[in-house]
Amino acid sequence: MTMSTPIAALAALAIAAAPAAHGAEPQAAKSTSKRAAKQIERGRYLLTVGSCNDCHSDGFAPSDGKVPEKDWLLGSPLGFRGPWGTTYATNLRLSLSRMSEDQWVKYAKALKARPPMPWFNLNLWNDSDLRSFYRYVRQLGPVGEPAPQALPPGQEPKPPYILWPAPPKS
Ligand code: HEC
Repeated sequence: MTMSTPIAALAALAIAAAPAAHGAEPQAAKSTSKRAAKQIERGRYLLTVGSCNDCHSDGFAPSDGKVPEKDWLLGSPLGFRGPWGTTYATNLRLSLSRMSEDQWVKYAKALKARPPMPWFNLNLWNDSDLRSFYRYVRQLGPVGEPAPQALPPGQEPKPPYILWPAPPKS
């Protein structure tokens, strides 16, 4: 068989186009940045429909989602108090700035955290979703300050916090 494979055909095309590379290069760069922009946009979509802002962006739910995007995912000082102690939705810009994209993918798939973090849902995101999320978060701007440290059960938190009822006794 002498028919060339699609890859060989592409390579031949690339060679043929080489002398005209002058005009071709910006075109290639343009399509790469278009792809990158699409991936970032998808990350934004996923975190919106995945409700990450509801807890990880301060004041999001009470303001009907009206927190400006420049303040998204910076963490929240609102405590969630329950039998697990008191937890605070972390600053995800900061957390992700401390790991590579590959590390994030592994971390998110294996994550277990205290309530009310729905870690069991995050574990199910596929690689491509997690990579889009990472890219979106990493271009959000200044990483800000950490959210308050979680407290162990029995330690009195400073307000504001939401008190979670203990599960009913059976
Ligand atoms: C109902 C509130 C809530 C929602 C919704 C939520 N989180 Fe969380 N998240 C938390 C809390 C609280 C913690 C801290 C848990 C702890 O201290 O053990 C946390 C912890 C985390 C952590 C681990 C700590 C860190 O910064 O590395 C990651 C990662 C995370 N959340 C990502 C997400 C993503 C991504 C989404 C959206 C898909 C999301 N969370 C949605 C409340 C929430």
